[in-house]
Amino acid sequence: MSDTTRGNPATIAPATGKLAIFTPGLGAVATTFIAGVERVRRGLSAPIGSLTQMATVRLGKRTDNRSPLIKDFVPLATLNDIVFAAWDPIPDDAYTAAVKAGVLTKEDLEPVADFLKGIKPMPAVFENKYVTRITGATNVKSAKTKRELAEQLRADIRNFMKANGAERGAMVWTGSTEIFIKAGPQHQTIEAFEKAMDENDEAIAPSMLYAYAAIMEGIAYCNGAPNLSADFPALVELANQKGVVVSGKDFKTGQTWMKTVIAPGMKARMLGLEGWYSTNILGNRDGEVLDDPASFKTKEESKLSVLHTILQPEKYPELYKDFSHVVRINYYPPRGDNKEGWDNIDIKGWLGYPMQIKVNFLCRDSILAAPLVLDLALFSDFAQRAGMKGIQEWLSFYYKSPQVAPGLQPEHDLFIQQTKLKNTLRHLMGEEQITHLGLEYYQ
Ligand SMILES: NC(=O)c1ccc[n+]([C@@H]2O[C@H](COP(=O)([O-])OP(=O)(O)OC[C@H]3O[C@@H](n4cnc5c(N)ncnc54)[C@H](O)[C@@H]3O)[C@@H](O)[C@H]2O)c1
Repeated sequence: MSDTTRGNPATIAPATGKLAIFTPGLGAVATTFIAGVERVRRGLSAPIGSLTQMATVRLGKRTDNRSPLIKDFVPLATLNDIVFAAWDPIPDDAYTAAVKAGVLTKEDLEPVADFLKGIKPMPAVFENKYVTRITGATNVKSAKTKRELAEQLRADIRNFMKANGAERGAMVWTGSTEIFIKAGPQHQTIEAFEKAMDENDEAIAPSMLYAYAAIMEGIAYCNGAPNLSADFPALVELANQKGVVVSGKDFKTGQTWMKTVIAPGMKARMLGLEGWYSTNILGNRDGEVLDDPASFKTKEESKLSVLHTILQPEKYPELYKDFSHVVRINYYPPRGDNKEGWDNIDIKGWLGYPMQIKVNFLCRDSILAAPLVLDLALFSDFAQRAGMKGIQEWLSFYYKSPQVAPGLQPEHDLFIQQTKLKNTLRHLMGEEQITHLGLEYYQ
C-alpha cells in the first residue's frame, strides 16, 4: 500500500472542548447509555461493549507489538467532554425514564440519580400517526408546518450548544421505530424534501426532521432505529454539502448480531441453509411499539435483509437458493428489557445431509445497545473532524441496515465490517492497512 493512500493525521482537527450528544428519544436505550457514561466517568463501572473505550487496534507488523487502545491511537472526544441533550414526547427526566425502563437496578441508578434528574427532555417533534403505541405524549412541539418544526429543532440544538459551551455535536436517534415509509419523490432532492416539509407531506416523518435539523446544524446523524430518517438521496446530498457524516439504520444488537456472526461462518465452510427461524419475546416499550404491525414492518425489513447479502444465493444457488427466513417479535410484558430470542437454523452439509443449530439468547436489549450509541457518536465526531462527509460505510459494524453508496450491496458480515472499521482508523491516522497476508514472516 503506497503512502499516497494514507490519511494525514496532522490535518485532523483536535477534539477540543465539549461534544454534545443529542438523543431524540429518552427511553430505555438512551437512559442506559447516559447513566452508563456517567457511571464510567465516576469510576463506578467499566464501559464493556464499547470499542472506543476498550478495543485495541494492531498497527504495523505482528512482530512490531504495536496494539494501542483505539482511544489512545485516534483523537476521540473523552467521556468527560460529553454533554447530553434529549427530546421526548414523554416529559420524564432521565432518572424517571430510566426507572420506568427497568434496565438498570436501583443500586446502579442511585449514585448517578442527581445527574440523571438534571436531564430533562426538550419538547419533541412527535405525531402518534408515526408511532401509534406511545401514550402520554404531552411534551410536544407545535407549528404550522413541518419545516417550522425542523427550525425549532435547529434552535434547540443551537441553544443547547451555546448554553453548555459545546463546540461540536452528534445526534443518535434512540426514539421509537416509526411506521414503514418507502422513499418517494419527496425524498429525492433537497428542494423536493424542503417543499414537502412546507406542505406537511405525510411522507415526512418526525425522525426525518431531526435528521434534517442535525445536518443543517453541522451535526453528525446516526440512526438507532430502522426508520428511513436520513437514508435517502435528499439528506445524503445535504450531508455532503454541509460536510456532515451519516451512517446507517437500526442498531445491530441481539439476534441480528448473532446472525451476522453465524452466517459468515456457515458460508466460509460452504455449508448450505434450508431455513432460519427467529423468534423473540420482549416486554419493554420498544416491544410494545413493535407490536403494531406498521412499526414491525419497518423492523422486519431491516432484520430480513442481512442473510441474503451475506449468503449470496445468486452466486451459490445449490447452497442458499430459496432458504426460508422468518423473524417474529412477540410483545410479552413480564420480560421487560430482558429479551429472549430463539433461533432454529436448518443447515445442510456434505452430500446434502441435514443438521440443525439452535441458539437461545437471553440478552438485555439496552445493555447491548448503549455502548453502540457511545461509539457511533464518538466515531462520527472523529470522522467529521478528519474531513469525512456523507455516508460512512465503515460504521456498518454497528447497524442492521448499513447505509451505502447507490448501487453497492451493504456489507453485513461482522468481521468484514470490523476490518473495514479498523482499516479506516488506520487509514485516517496515516498507518498501513493490514491485509493479513503474512507471507513476510516466512521469507
Ligand atoms: N435495544 C436494542 O437492542 C435496539 C436494537 C436496535 C434498535 N433499537 C431501537 O432503538 C430505539 C429505542 O429503543 P428503546 O428500547 O430505548 O425504546 P423506548 O420505547 O424505551 O424509548 C423510545 C423513546 O422514544 C420516544 N419517542 C418516540 N417518538 C419520538 C420522537 N418523534 N421524538 C423524540 N422521542 C420520541 C418515546 O417516547 C420513547 O421514550 C427503538 O426504535 C428500537 O427499535 C433498539
